[in-house]
This record gives sequence, C-alpha cells and structure tokens, in this order.
Amino acid sequence: MRVLLVGGGGREHALALGLQGDPEVTEIHCAPGNEGIAQLATIHALDLSDNAAIVALAQELDVDLVVVGPELPLVNGVADELRAQGFATFGPSKAAAQLEGSKNFAKEVMHDAGVATARSATCTDRVQIEKALDAFGSPYVVKDDGLAGGKGVVVTQDREVALAHALACKKVVIEEFLDGPEISLFGISDGKTIIAMEPAQDFKRAFDGDEGPNTGGMGAYSPLPWAPSDIIEQTHHDVLAPMIAEMAARGTPFVGLLYAGLSLTDHGVRVIEFNARFGDPETQVLIPRLKTPLGSLLYKAATRNLDGVRLEWKTESAVTVVLAAKGYPSDPQPVGAIATMPAISDTHVFFAGGGRILSITGMGVDLTEARDRAYRGISHIDLPGSFYRTDIAFNASVAEKGN
Ligand SMILES: Nc1ncnc2c1ncn2[C@@H]1O[C@H](COP(=O)(O)OP(=O)(O)OP(=O)(O)O)[C@@H](O)[C@H]1O
Ligand SMILES: [Mg+2]
Repeated sequence: MRVLLVGGGGREHALALGLQGDPEVTEIHCAPGNEGIAQLATIHALDLSDNAAIVALAQELDVDLVVVGPELPLVNGVADELRAQGFATFGPSKAAAQLEGSKNFAKEVMHDAGVATARSATCTDRVQIEKALDAFGSPYVVKDDGLAGGKGVVVTQDREVALAHALACKKVVIEEFLDGPEISLFGISDGKTIIAMEPAQDFKRAFDGDEGPNTGGMGAYSPLPWAPSDIIEQTHHDVLAPMIAEMAARGTPFVGLLYAGLSLTDHGVRVIEFNARFGDPETQVLIPRLKTPLGSLLYKAATRNLDGVRLEWKTESAVTVVLAAKGYPSDPQPVGAIATMPAISDTHVFFAGGGRILSITGMGVDLTEARDRAYRGISHIDLPGSFYRTDIAFNASVAEKGN
C-alpha cells in the first residue's frame, strides 16, 4: 500500500512512524513533511491551504490511501475533493470537519445526539454576551466559534477579560465551567463504526503547574492508571457512537479521527470539545503504544470497513515531553541548531516545527520509567532558547506507585 500523509508536524511524524511499522505499507510520502519525517518518508513540497495541489500530488504519486493530518485542509474540504477523485481518504469531509471548525455546530450535534457537554449560549452581540457571562458566572469560559489556531478559548475569573475576548469574536460560545480532570479520547471512524483508542492526558498550559497560556500541548502520557476502568467503553457508548450515528443520520458521515476532549466531572463525563484530527502530543504517546498495524487500520476506516476490528495495545507506558522555543505560543523566538541528537534506547524523537521544536517520547514498563527516559532524552539536548515543562506525567507516576 502506498500512503500519502498530508501535514508536517509532530503528529505526522508519529503517524509516519506508525505507518512504517505496518508491513502492508510499501511507500510513505509526506507533504510538506519536516526534517525528522524525512527519515521515514519521501518528502514533497506542499502548500497545505491549496486543495488542488494536494489532490494533484495524490494523483501524481498514485497512492492507495491519503491520510490528512491537520485541521486546515480538512475544514477546507480537501477530503471531499480527494474522494471525488477516487482516493481512499482518512479524514472527514468539510461538513463533518465542522465538529472542529465551529464550536456552535458541535454543540448542536451534541444536543441532537444526547451527548453530555457544558451548558452554553451562542452569542453574536454585547447584550447576549453579558447575559450569558452573568448566567454562567466565574470562571468564565469564552470560545471563538471558529478555528483560531489554539487562541480561541479564554478561561478566566476576570469578567472584563472574558467580555473583551467575547466582543473580539464574531460569533462566540459562552459556557459553564467544567471542574474535573481532562482527558483526550480518540475514536477512529469509518462513518458508521467508531473504535475508541486508549485515553491519554495532555498538558495544554505552557508552564509547570498548569500555569501560563494555552498551547497546542506541552506533553502527554498514556495509559491513565488513575482513570475509571470503564472509561473507554463509557466514552464509546455515551459520546463517540452517538456522535457518529448523528452525523450519519444528517447525511454527513464522519470518516476519520474524532478527538473527544473530556472533563471527568463529579456529575459524569462531559465533552469539552471535539477535534476532527489527531492531537500532536497524544498521538506521540498513542502511536508508539499501538500494536495494530496503522496503515491497514486507517485504510479500513477510509473504505468503510471497520466493523469487527479491535485495537491491540502494548502494555508499556509512554510519556512525551515537548521542547518549545522561548516565547511559545505567542511569540516563539528563533532557536539555534541542535548539535547532536544522542540515540537513547526506548525513546522516540518527533520533530514538530512552529514554536514546538520537537518532542521526546519515552517508553517503559510504567509511567515512572517512561518519564525518566523521556526526561533523560531531553536533558541530552542542548538548545539555547528552548524550554520544556518538568512536570509532565509527574502526578500520574506518583499515583501509579500507590496502586
Ligand atoms: N467548559 C470548560 N470548563 C473548563 N475548562 C474549559 C472549558 N472549555 C475549555 N476549557 C479549557 O480550555 C482548553 C481549550 O478549550 P478547547 O479545547 O475548547 O479549545 P481549542 O482551542 O479548540 O483547543 P485545541 O487546540 O485542543 O483544539 C481546554 O483544554 C480546557 O482546559
Ligand atoms: Mg479544538
């Protein structure tokens, strides 16, 4: 099987590693790729906002499967154009990608599907905004309806900050604050069947102790020894399956990766958000743990053939730590070149690009060992102008000792 992977970040690097481990995959192409992915795949130049160029590349390479990584081309409808040209495509249509592209749309579908989420109001003027802020109270949760590259959501106790952000959005979703640990649970869908992956937890804030601005993710780990043992079944039953059924009933089946961001509240599991693609840090811990060959799995999803498929996982734990440029996420500063990348056993290095430079995933018998390896790896990199969080998976590794 020849595969074209569209994208060039840490997520695609991890997916390329997964594809490489599948004996059915004979060729991996990646566009635009990055320096790290070039070790695993043939790289092609590409403008991710140019749907026609993506389709033309798939035709030129005559691939059997296209995997679309980032949200931008998905929301632009590249999957529709690829399917129209006969390509088996892993990634939702433009209509289905609206689950990520519009927070209001996601709320409507959740409502119709009976999926539990934060109560919310969608507002377009100041009167509605002020009413909603006062109705839900502090901490205020204010979300730009549309894609905002990770800058659309403000959670604050300061009403003025909340109001200013809301007024700056054309359409804004204001919702109740959910109090509970957050997890990410991904489902692989063929449009009618969705298979839940194992959960992961990512660290969205820039600095230790969950301080600082929201980022694309500063690290992650999997599995979650502290999570309820039925969390996968429960999320599949209460969230993933009803969403896929509702999208199919609307005539816009969701084929691809449905990312559920969940809050485990005292009142039960609540959806924080959906994304229409893999999340970077989570993918960097899930793919190294996945035993099921990735290319064949994504091909089955793309060709509506997931019925009866079960995922197999390694028992090992994985922890990934992101090395980011100082100033990330608002204003990442240029960094020097990495002098040498020592090969450390039981780790994977994933190149990111943008403000996140790379991440190191450590594997181990438990989170403690995986974490030690990830941090040993990162301590070997001498890169002035970079930083990383020191507390990724720390609490979970302490908790696992108590089990
Ligand atoms: N209702 C809520 N209650 C508490 N915290 C929330 C709520 N909604 C969002 N958050 C916090 O804000 C973060 C970002 O929100 P959300 O995931 O909706 O935005 P996003 O910009 O789409 O994120 P991503 O980049 O992960 O796609 C969440 O991970 C969570 O920490
Ligand atoms: Mg999102």
